[in-house]
Amino acid sequence: MTRTQVAIVGAGPAGLMLAHLLHREGIESVVVEQKSQAYIEQRVRAGVLEHGTVELLTGAGIGDRLLREGLPHHGFELRFEGETHRIDLTGLTGRTITVYGQQEVVKDLVAARQALGAPIHFEVMEVGVHDIGTDRPFVTGVHDGIPIRIEADFVAGCDGFHGICRAALPATEGRQFEREYPFGWVGILAEAPPSSPELIYARHERGFALHSMRSATVTRLYVQCGPHDRVEQWPDQRVWDELHLRLGAPGWSLTEGPIFEKSITGMRSFVMEPMQSGRLFLAGDAAHIVPPTGAKGLNLALADVAVLARGLVEWYRAGSRHQLDQYSATCLRRVWRAEDFSAQMTGLLHRYPDDSGGFAARLQLARLRVIVGSRAAQTALAEGYVG
Ligand code: APR
Ligand code: PHB
Repeated sequence: MTRTQVAIVGAGPAGLMLAHLLHREGIESVVVEQKSQAYIEQRVRAGVLEHGTVELLTGAGIGDRLLREGLPHHGFELRFEGETHRIDLTGLTGRTITVYGQQEVVKDLVAARQALGAPIHFEVMEVGVHDIGTDRPFVTGVHDGIPIRIEADFVAGCDGFHGICRAALPATEGRQFEREYPFGWVGILAEAPPSSPELIYARHERGFALHSMRSATVTRLYVQCGPHDRVEQWPDQRVWDELHLRLGAPGWSLTEGPIFEKSITGMRSFVMEPMQSGRLFLAGDAAHIVPPTGAKGLNLALADVAVLARGLVEWYRAGSRHQLDQYSATCLRRVWRAEDFSAQMTGLLHRYPDDSGGFAARLQLARLRVIVGSRAAQTALAEGYVG
């Protein structure tokens, strides 16, 4: 049996950052994770950090490598009907975004925690959360065949969309909001220099495509695919063919290179309300999912745990539950803003298989023309994007 102040389930960005923020305030935590360290450090996800996320990471002493290796971006491109239009993020909002892979954030957070000698329990199976309605909640699991039990003052459910913590909230108290999209994304990493210095979001009759990057030598690319497609249906040549078609524009060409990672992501919007009950607080993907078009997932996860850490600090310093009681309401305002932005970006740029009459496609093009023709509309888009 272990006794700690905060038991954290899940060593994704949310759980690791919460542990880090709490440690800086002298609050002890234990992190339990079902996967191995190698697995979480290699899991490829998105990679766009909002300005506020970069400030949060650097302010918490986690930003050294991010500031050295992250790629600051001042704009992105919208491409449709063979035209390219730049959204000048910095000119419109005064802010930048930074491209830095999520697994790099995870590596930095793991390294920081291990440097302190504070453990992360990897490969813990059969994790369960108990007694959240009391002031002695606890987490159980099995590690190397041996049962473990962690007693805590609070439990943070940072175990992602497929975790077990959400189900521990009493069904009678909560409400879930969900929308599934009739498509997914095939994402690849290729050993090829980026074909443009900036991200390119392309709307094409054949479907959406996105050009992004990880470094001067690695390109990150996505193509819209069917909602139930499997990776085997997307051999490398098919991916490149679709990327060339959908991203194509006069005077521009896509540089190919060996593909060393390929996976398919489903697309959904999901929110659990409220994000808390008793002594259990959900954060990040455990509580909400956005489609990746707006690049908000990681940013929301880190914003949640910043709010949660403040609430816990107030509890331990001043004995007040005020901020903790407001946790869900505080987070949900930002969450729904991001849900709105992500759903709009998704709706603007994807091919809808049920749009056989082409009405939705015409509306998309009309909307895109409004955006590229109006500084006010571009400012709204840029503000949503930089967060
Ligand atoms: N027990 C312990 N750990 C678990 C369990 C469980 N039952 N179920 C899941 N986990 C772990 C996962 O293995 C993962 O490492 O919880 C972690 C959750 O991490 P993420 O899925 O990365 O979620 P989060 O930290 O909220 O970060 C959100 O991830 O999905 C992306 O785009 C999303 O960028 C966003 C970010
Ligand atoms: C990425 O680089 O992985 C990426 C960028 C922008 C998005 C989604 C993913 O909207």
